Amino acid sequence: MAKICVIGTGYVGLVTGTCFADMGHRVTCLDIDKNRISQLNNGVMPIYEPGLQQIVQQNVAAGRLDFTTEYPKALEETEFAFIAVGTPSNENGEADMQYVRNAADSIAKNLDHSIIIVNKSTVPVGTGDWVAEIISEQNHNTPGFCIVSNPEFLREGSAVNDFMEPDRVILGSTDLEAAQKVAELYEALRAPIMITDLRTAEMIKYASNAFLASRISFINEIANICETLGADVREVARGMGMDKRIGPAFLDAGLGWGGSCFPKDVKALAYMAATQGSHPQLLHAVMDINSNQRKNAVKKLEQGLGGLKGKTIGILGLSFKPNTDDTRDAPALDIIQLLMKAGATVKGFDPQAMQAVKEILPEITLCKNPYEVAENADAIMLATEWNEFKSLDFKKIKESMRGAVIVDGRNIWDGNMLRAMGFIYYGIGVPNPK
Ligand SMILES: NC(=O)c1ccc[n+]([C@@H]2O[C@H](COP(=O)([O-])OP(=O)(O)OC[C@H]3O[C@@H](n4cnc5c(N)ncnc54)[C@H](O)[C@@H]3O)[C@@H](O)[C@H]2O)c1
Repeated sequence: MAKICVIGTGYVGLVTGTCFADMGHRVTCLDIDKNRISQLNNGVMPIYEPGLQQIVQQNVAAGRLDFTTEYPKALEETEFAFIAVGTPSNENGEADMQYVRNAADSIAKNLDHSIIIVNKSTVPVGTGDWVAEIISEQNHNTPGFCIVSNPEFLREGSAVNDFMEPDRVILGSTDLEAAQKVAELYEALRAPIMITDLRTAEMIKYASNAFLASRISFINEIANICETLGADVREVARGMGMDKRIGPAFLDAGLGWGGSCFPKDVKALAYMAATQGSHPQLLHAVMDINSNQRKNAVKKLEQGLGGLKGKTIGILGLSFKPNTDDTRDAPALDIIQLLMKAGATVKGFDPQAMQAVKEILPEITLCKNPYEVAENADAIMLATEWNEFKSLDFKKIKESMRGAVIVDGRNIWDGNMLRAMGFIYYGIGVPNPK
């Protein structure tokens, strides 16, 4: 059993801390957000993540997991300090490192014993060395510390399972012994563990996210070509995915990627490349295709309605993907802004993200359910494929709508059936109305 401290209780920090506690370690999760820590101490989850609350409660009850805002308390006798704070985008695409810097400062100020600092945040290549410098500069009595990079690959919505059953664990360090000690923490998961150098581990995370984002942009580009040529991208993706060299994952055409990771990580990678004199053409194309994909969806609404001014559009799904309340860079939010700019009124519903949207876009009307969204709407657009949207009562929806346009941004509905019911149905990458 190890004594672990996890800094940051966002999706990654909270899941990491809870899962290590569940594996039998003694974990303290720390956050500077007092409200978050007080929620956690009262058994309230600050994020929506399926299955997480129960495991948190079990491990708190077993005395293996606790929460604090105090660095000295969190670091007391800790053998491993995991940094899992946010690394959002700056205006120019660069990763904003202020949270990592503050976490490193606080570790330096409060460190009185040797420790392994493990960086789980997605950070620019070279950050491990930079964190080491910060700690050495500020703590001249440093009793000895090592830095290990351990990028996280969990997905919101299936985060606990992804953490407990990872495809691989990546560790990078200049200190092999330190990396091996971190590897021991993961041994119980029986996953492949790859140990490499610090910078390579940091790069593996960016390259992985950029690759996945590229696959989605690729299939969205193919979807747009399919629409012009009368092919069906769903079948194209199915046929492509049967090829073992390609595989079926991340080939669903839609409104493009969003969320807390892909947008900022692709931008940060392009920024890093540019600062070193490279011109990452593919990354720029991947980002351009992604932002155009939202505009293309709005064009479908405009075409179906003969203009957007004065029209009421209902949006189903506001989080960036199902099973999360995270709305960071959600396609729905970009689309809503484009619609409002064009003079439309927007209503929306999401099973978990309503609170977040209320704060970001107070102008839109938030409804209690999909049927309220449809009431008197000229069109509805599906932006996030929550399960509960998969089998709606379209007869009821048709009767309550003012118009009859449907844009299915994730291709989850049966277009032929909806057209037979009198809807003007648009999917993504499928034969659509001219
Ligand atoms: N969200 C994901 O699905 C995901 C997946 C893989 C990797 N990542 C990466 O993991 C990192 C964390 O992501 P997230 O989504 O969990 O972040 P988040 O923004 O949801 O949470 C970060 C937390 O860190 C806290 N924090 C900030 N500064 C702090 C400090 N100095 N000391 C203590 N706490 C501090 C914040 O209050 C916040 O609660 C990012 O680099 C992200 O790119 C995220």
